[in-house]
Amino acid sequence: MIRTLKSAPIIAGCALMSGVLFAPTSAYAKVIDISTPSTTLLLNATEGEPLQFLYYGNKLSPDEIATMGTASMTPLTAYPVYGLTSHSETAMSVKHPDGNMTLDMAVTGISTSSGADGSTVTTIAMNDRHYPFGIDLNYRTYPGDEIIECWAEAVNNGKRDVVLEQFSSAYLPIRYGDVYLTSLYGSWGNEGKVEEAPLTHGMKVIKNKDGIRNSHTAHSEVMFSLDGKPQENHGRVIGAALCYSGNYRLRIDTDESNYHHFFAGINEDNASYSLPKGERFVTPPLALTYSEEGKSGVSRNFHRWGRNHRIAHGNDVRKILLNSWEGVYFDINEEGMAQMMADIASMGGELFVMDDGWFGQKHHRDNDTRALGDWTVDTRKLPSGIGGLISEAKKNGISFGIWIEPEMTNTVSELYEKHPEYILKSSNREPRQGRGGTQVVLDMANPKVQDIVFSIVDTLLSKYPEIAYIKWDANAAIMNHGSQYLPDDKQSHMMIEYHRGLTKTLDRIRAKYPDVIIQACASGGGRANYGILPWFDEIWVSDNTDALQRVYMQWGTSHFFPAVIMASHISAAPNHQTFRSIPLKYRIDVAMSGRLGMEIQPKNMTESEKALCRKAIEEYKEIRPIVQLGDIYRLLSPYDKKGAASLMYVTPEKDKAAFFWWKTESFVNQQLPRVAMAGLDPEASYTVRELNRIDRRPLPFEGKTYSGRYLMSNGLEMPLDHNVDHDKRNEYASRVLLLEKK
Ligand code: GLA
Repeated sequence: MIRTLKSAPIIAGCALMSGVLFAPTSAYAKVIDISTPSTTLLLNATEGEPLQFLYYGNKLSPDEIATMGTASMTPLTAYPVYGLTSHSETAMSVKHPDGNMTLDMAVTGISTSSGADGSTVTTIAMNDRHYPFGIDLNYRTYPGDEIIECWAEAVNNGKRDVVLEQFSSAYLPIRYGDVYLTSLYGSWGNEGKVEEAPLTHGMKVIKNKDGIRNSHTAHSEVMFSLDGKPQENHGRVIGAALCYSGNYRLRIDTDESNYHHFFAGINEDNASYSLPKGERFVTPPLALTYSEEGKSGVSRNFHRWGRNHRIAHGNDVRKILLNSWEGVYFDINEEGMAQMMADIASMGGELFVMDDGWFGQKHHRDNDTRALGDWTVDTRKLPSGIGGLISEAKKNGISFGIWIEPEMTNTVSELYEKHPEYILKSSNREPRQGRGGTQVVLDMANPKVQDIVFSIVDTLLSKYPEIAYIKWDANAAIMNHGSQYLPDDKQSHMMIEYHRGLTKTLDRIRAKYPDVIIQACASGGGRANYGILPWFDEIWVSDNTDALQRVYMQWGTSHFFPAVIMASHISAAPNHQTFRSIPLKYRIDVAMSGRLGMEIQPKNMTESEKALCRKAIEEYKEIRPIVQLGDIYRLLSPYDKKGAASLMYVTPEKDKAAFFWWKTESFVNQQLPRVAMAGLDPEASYTVRELNRIDRRPLPFEGKTYSGRYLMSNGLEMPLDHNVDHDKRNEYASRVLLLEKK
């Protein structure tokens, strides 16, 4: 909810009244209240003065807001700009046409608008006191969601170009104290790892420069725990997620003031931007949230908003699929595809996805050195084409999906042979090539390339409307700085124009094909970002499918992203990335905590393994809405090294919950903590049922009923091992419990 407070003449400080919208007639001071159901962000907009930040935290009453408006101790600029206080970090800096490098912004107006999605945007307009340059700061809220999206727009009202050197989306001052930063870092095969550390003096920078895969090595989402070491289910936590598909930079400057100064936006390195006269530069939104229920509370806020507003089909449960990659890699053929389809259908799966290796007529895609760009079926491998595969899928009663990598080409491809001018490449230099020694990135700034990328999807989906799912991959960095399309004096726009071109193309695809499910894969988890998710339904968390390492990666990813987007597949043992042999039960129990799928050659599985998967798929269907659409409560972190990890999902009605517990270390007579549950209704009684059971005897609490209060204070005792025949014993143990309100 946004309460805009009526203007009144200023005598000293701020005048404040509840009421109607401001009409910009005379000098005024207004406290702008941007509220969600349980948070408040307050600004002080005084005409002719810099916009001030007053407060961000739990919800304030109107009386408290009035007090805040008049009793703010330290005036803090809501969006610091460069030039007149040049010793501080800033959100925006520009070069005016006459060479002046300063900004001096003052509030000129406030407005609100409503979106078709029920959102409300409050905009505070500021103009430079001398130059024809404006900054609009925007704050969007949605009814019922705890997120405030903030972004800045730079407006050039002059007659000549203004060069934007720095253009953060938003700034937030966080009171200096015992503040811990939680961030995600990693690399290929090791995405989404959690790092937590106190904020110390100096500058902490989290950034990405890959150009395309912006979440492998670092994430553009962070949490600030305000009460010391981060806790999952209590304590005050601010969450922030920059929603951008390209390069970003988050800065936290802890200086001599009483604040940690947090800035987030596009990474401006090598990307200064000439803003032509009369034009507006819109920065990507920073989604902010606040919770007093610890990090899990912040996660729930992000997940709900994400499902409601930032993820394609965010509130629809996903199909259970088999992806062909780890099963056959490039070795695609009709018989093999038919066998995999029959196998996944027989286990209760709902979708088969044919991965890489199906295309290329002149240059055959038998490995990763060729054919990206040539999206025609390799009829040597698939004589009946995609139509044949779709018929086969229908015969098996499942849907069909396909892998593409549309933003890329290989220098060994018909596309490159015909159009070398379509790739990103710097002038007078040979292009550096990536995967397979031949992969290069198409120039998405070029409208002709945008048409090509659109037509790749359009050709497939218009000819085969039965294609239900696309795995959209992106396996290269932008290594070569250079657009062959952009003029010489706009080369620094390349990174930004790439993402504008991509977004435009995705808009066209979604306008024509709103229903197709699209996975964002980028060498695994390279595109876990709310900047890409409006067009995508899910992410491939990692190319690493090792269940134990997935416990860590999915734990991290869940900080910001809901299970409905976390593709999590049962794969072979030994694992193809870690070579670790993990029993099938554990692999299933980990995969079931996300969007369950399989990434395996079923013909290499025994009948009893298939039977276990069949049972798991059947049981997953029961808990799928709880896991994919429920509220997460992380309980015991694998990063705490207590020997086990545990989390649960609870329906919003609190009538059902799915509890997951995985042992992460194995020692004889190990003492593991007993995990108290969370998120249940203390007054309700829940009956416990174990899923994926392999033990000879049921657990002592099987079928028993406990109060939510008991479960949240005591939890249930998880045995160290599984009660199975001696030759089946191993070092792993895991449990999945379904709790149903009686
Ligand atoms: C990337 C993806 C994999 C797979 C291969 C195919 O590495 O992350 O899942 O699709 O490409 O080449």
